[in-house]
Amino acid sequence: MQLVGIVGWRGMVGSVLMDRMKEEGDFSHFEPVFFSTSNAGGAAPAMARNESTLKDAYDIDALRRCDIILTAQGGDYTTEIFPKLRAAGWNGHWIDAASTLRMNSDAVIVLDPVNMPVIKNALAAGGRNWVGGNCTVSCMLLGVGALYKAGLVEWMSTMTYQAASGGGAQHMRELLTQYGTLNAEVRSLLDDPKSAILEIDRKVIAKQRGLSVEETAHFGVPLGGSLIPWIDKDLGNGASREEWKGMAETNKILGIGEGFSAPAIPVDGFCVRIGAMRCHSQALTFKLRKDVPVADIEALIAQDNPWAKVVPNTREATLAGLTPVAVTGTLNIPVGRIRKLAMGPEYVGAFTIGDQLLWGAAEPLRRMLRILLEH
Ligand code: HSE
Repeated sequence: MQLVGIVGWRGMVGSVLMDRMKEEGDFSHFEPVFFSTSNAGGAAPAMARNESTLKDAYDIDALRRCDIILTAQGGDYTTEIFPKLRAAGWNGHWIDAASTLRMNSDAVIVLDPVNMPVIKNALAAGGRNWVGGNCTVSCMLLGVGALYKAGLVEWMSTMTYQAASGGGAQHMRELLTQYGTLNAEVRSLLDDPKSAILEIDRKVIAKQRGLSVEETAHFGVPLGGSLIPWIDKDLGNGASREEWKGMAETNKILGIGEGFSAPAIPVDGFCVRIGAMRCHSQALTFKLRKDVPVADIEALIAQDNPWAKVVPNTREATLAGLTPVAVTGTLNIPVGRIRKLAMGPEYVGAFTIGDQLLWGAAEPLRRMLRILLEH
């Protein structure tokens, strides 16, 4: 049995990954070795068999024993350990949730329901580095990848509504704490049906503006009852790094653009943090290469993979199935609000949602591990 090293299994993405691997019976297909950055020598979790103690995640010799390493430990860990491990001659498969290696020419962004041919080509060419994509990009392509595969997309604009979980566990806690603080500020007024709404509003905005540095430590400004139209670094050219990823990663996943033979498809828009917990939502605008009936677009999406679900473009169906609350904790990627836009018959709008911890993070890595084990 192949030895698979698992690093970062206790964090938020790692925990979701472990749960999914248990659900799918993945642990019966390999011998797991659990690593820790802080508790080497401690007891490994219940999924361990022969390797029952935690190994030191910084011990290159311990890592080198593994045929495959799967890490959700984060970018700093990858930056420190990956080059040392390769320099030590380790030739195993590295599967990574962090963005560090994503755009390297020898790394594939894995999303097998969308880019199995790209993965297979890289495997045949001796590829060893497999990286999960940006969560908004992975969720979007799971939902509407069919339109790209059919060669229909001339360009796409995406306006995102990204959940707190994209920042991390502490960001989710901060959001909820802010909601609680705001609620507490006006609770007595809310309890009184005759109180004035503008008085409530005045108190809430005063509280939001008065939140301390500690109360906004992770997002920098209040998110509860507000939004933040900037995610990740400022690239200095007007775009955020999250917005840059939209085009760079979409094209790399599809095997087009830089380093491939076909030209890139333009993808651009604004990435916005909102007060949702763990589902990223996106409003998409497509310029198609030709006029395609909505029913055909819906059929392409519905038939593409088992997780993309077309939501009928009605108020009732949208409220029932196209919200972060409906999607959280599921692998479904609903795509709704599909309609022709006023700009012309080639312009199509859609709205899609995905759990950013599942298809946006854990699931593509879990599946890549299975692909390697079955390879
Ligand atoms: N960059 C994403 C976000 C996280 O901040 O929402 C996952 O790719």
